[in-house]
Amino acid sequence: MSQTEAKRSGAPAPKKMARAKSRAAPPDLNVVRSTGIAPAEYTRRRRRLMDGLHEDAVALIPGALVRLRNGDTGYPFRQDSNFLYLTGFAEPQSLLVLVPGRPQGESILFCREREPRAERYDGERLGPERAASALGLDDAFPWEDSDEILSGLIEGRRRIYFPLGADADFDRRVLGWVQLLRSRVGSDSLPQCEFVDIGHLLHDLRLVKSAAELRLMRQAGAISAEAHCRAMQVCRPGMTESDLEAELLYSFRRAGAREPAYECIVAGGENACTLHYVRNSDALADGALVLIDAGCEYAGYAADITRTFPTSGRFTPVQRELYDLVLSAQHAAIDAARSGAHFNAPHEAAVRVLTQGLVDLKLLDGPLDKLIETEAARRFCMHKTSHWLGLDVHDVGDYRVGEAWRELEPGMVLTVEPGLYFPPELDDVPEAFKGIGIRIEDDVVITRGEPEVLTGGVPKSPDAIEALMAEGR
Ligand code: GLY
Ligand code: MN
Ligand code: MN
Repeated sequence: MSQTEAKRSGAPAPKKMARAKSRAAPPDLNVVRSTGIAPAEYTRRRRRLMDGLHEDAVALIPGALVRLRNGDTGYPFRQDSNFLYLTGFAEPQSLLVLVPGRPQGESILFCREREPRAERYDGERLGPERAASALGLDDAFPWEDSDEILSGLIEGRRRIYFPLGADADFDRRVLGWVQLLRSRVGSDSLPQCEFVDIGHLLHDLRLVKSAAELRLMRQAGAISAEAHCRAMQVCRPGMTESDLEAELLYSFRRAGAREPAYECIVAGGENACTLHYVRNSDALADGALVLIDAGCEYAGYAADITRTFPTSGRFTPVQRELYDLVLSAQHAAIDAARSGAHFNAPHEAAVRVLTQGLVDLKLLDGPLDKLIETEAARRFCMHKTSHWLGLDVHDVGDYRVGEAWRELEPGMVLTVEPGLYFPPELDDVPEAFKGIGIRIEDDVVITRGEPEVLTGGVPKSPDAIEALMAEGR
């Protein structure tokens, strides 16, 4: 048995785990009701999207397809976020067609037909016969009939909205439907037709979250926070990064969140200076910090949390000094995340605090405003402070309107994640800083008042982290 294994097997079980919550059944995304979002909300979303389209338009929003990983094994199926947002339906081989003003029905779904043999292997399908009423749509047809029916649905429409350029195969299918229509009715009798990317309109809708979406995001935040607490409590020097990753995934699944929202980053020591480190295979050294960036996906919604803590349970004075600086920057950034401020305000607040701190540490020299203007702190924090969060971890929505940063509005959700990184190769920093990487990340809802932090269930002050880690010992 290796030293690592010996220490690992000696680790006590974490205390104070919330057992009751962790038994929740995972939401089944096949049918809309199980996400907790009412069918009427999906109807409203489709209505709002159609209201933004031209009258003579048709919109085509494809679901995701099953992708092979290797051999006969597929990647875990994840529905396309745009499609999920508009239908709540999570079966592959689906297509939503919106035809504003069409007397026979405006919202039409194509989906897989019921097939007893296939369902014996892969589970029950909703099927077109049940889909329209289950999902609050006007009509539903078999996926296999889409080529035949689509050319009729786009006939007479001058604008075809779809996620243009997002998937070459779907681009080709749309062209195929137009060609089919031309061959059917003759190009001379067809009006000119334009392809328009639906992204901008749809992403603007997705950017501002509804009350029901925020409920799911609170749950994603709470589950993820609990998983981080567990990882802090079980952590011991000598365990591997992979051991902690296993604890996170275990917590997510036990709590009804089947998948992480993105690959977990568990980075001990200098691995934390690799921003997207996902190898997660090294042993955790005593005296080092470990950075965990992990969040679950719950009912389609992502959480995104980073915490950095000492493997031993106690920060060294140097670690604490640098950590406190990142934490001050994060507090300032969260405080700047307010309705009416612009998207970059949290980043600017964080950079101001970090830059002043780096001057105090004698790592930067010069007038503060000049250092901020020249982005001098980027040497030690190379990423931005925020991104939108929602169905995608790096969620959709424009960050700028023209040249200007977008204004923050109630219901928008963003991360706040400043960091400081001192890769070992930096030759002009104190020896004690080398190999330290610290990031602190929370998920924040813009409200009419104080910012709402969705991920406050996991501590972030050094004292509170040490206290939680001590509980696990
Ligand atoms: N976990 C990805 C990010 O923080 O942006
Ligand atoms: Mn993250
Ligand atoms: Mn993030």
